[in-house]
Amino acid sequence: MQTLNVDLGERSYPIYIGDGLLTRPELLLPGLAQKKAAVVTNTTVAELYLDPLTAVLVKQGVEVVPVVLPDGEKYKNWETLNLIFDTLLSHRCERKTAVIALGGGVIGDLAGFAAAVYMRGVPFIQIPTTLLAQVDSSIGGKTAINHPQGKNLIGAFYQPKLVLADTATLNTLPERELCAGLAEVIKYGLIRDGAFFDWLERNMEKLLKHDSEALAYAIKRSCEIKAAVVAADERESGIRALLNLGHTFGHAIETGKGYGVWLHGEAIAAGTLLAARLSLRMGLIGETEVERITSLYRKAKLPTSAPDLGAKRYLQLMGLDKKVESGRIRFILLKKIGEAFITADIPEELVTATLSGIAANA
Ligand code: NAD
Ligand code: GLY
Repeated sequence: MQTLNVDLGERSYPIYIGDGLLTRPELLLPGLAQKKAAVVTNTTVAELYLDPLTAVLVKQGVEVVPVVLPDGEKYKNWETLNLIFDTLLSHRCERKTAVIALGGGVIGDLAGFAAAVYMRGVPFIQIPTTLLAQVDSSIGGKTAINHPQGKNLIGAFYQPKLVLADTATLNTLPERELCAGLAEVIKYGLIRDGAFFDWLERNMEKLLKHDSEALAYAIKRSCEIKAAVVAADERESGIRALLNLGHTFGHAIETGKGYGVWLHGEAIAAGTLLAARLSLRMGLIGETEVERITSLYRKAKLPTSAPDLGAKRYLQLMGLDKKVESGRIRFILLKKIGEAFITADIPEELVTATLSGIAANA
């Protein structure tokens, strides 16, 4: 097992990464404030992992309240959030009753937001079961639901007490979901660590074959980068925004196509390529870098072109991005592979040209 720490003063917490951690009560129990916990999950993950987790907790004398939600990005909304509150209230869950998220990023974001506001905040634990959730969404305290007009627009910063990433759960993950998670892994190489990007170029086949050593390294390195960025800028007043590489375009794709049509990771891959093409138009990187990024996404079985929503629709959707400041869209661009920066200082015609060029690059 590897243990990392998210260093946030009194709100610091551990990330445990390893095979078989789901049934290690000694890791989970310190996150509980009383012997009662609500486990929020979905129908798919419940079938696989709710019973083993419940058995471990019950054996320790913990009363478990299961909250089983429908599965899918399209349910990451107000109505589903309210289903969580209905169950917590009808089971008399109190201020000290922990909420445990068991699932991917959708469950983590929904359960985390519920934990942040239920009785003004209850203890929260993340048990991520997708690659994407293990390397990204379970860490850092961003919680949210979608609005019909845009992704993750309603939410809160709310840190978990601990993150328990059981890598054995990835054995049941469909290949398309594994690949979607790889998009966020590649993101870390692009924004902060060129050597990690090189490593991914050499090891992508192993990752796709679930090679346990390669996966463990990719998860650990990703978590290290995320933990360091979050510790430096918890509420995204500076460098945390870099973690949104590809997200301004990507969120527009997810909303524009309808939630769940493009997986989050797929939209981020396509969005990152748009950000790379915009960086190319700005003269920041060259064709060689764009080709390396495209080729790594191709190897990771991720999209290498974005859907053509039309430049006007993209701009309309991107206008609701959370990074918009004084009405100006701020973009994360690349200076090189391994270094990203944020800027609003981009001639609008270059953005429009990038979006209009989608059909040509498809
Ligand atoms: P997801 O939660 O929809 O999970 C993907 C699919 O895999 C679902 O069908 C799920 O039921 C299934 N699944 C989960 N674990 C499984 C397992 N072990 N075996 C088999 N099937 C399993 O999608 P995701 O990619 O995990 O998360 C995407 C969401 O995360 C998006 O809503 C995105 O906005 C959010 N996100 C949040 C942050 C953050 O910082 N909070 C960061 C990145 C992404
Ligand atoms: N996924 C972006 C962030 O956590 O800031």
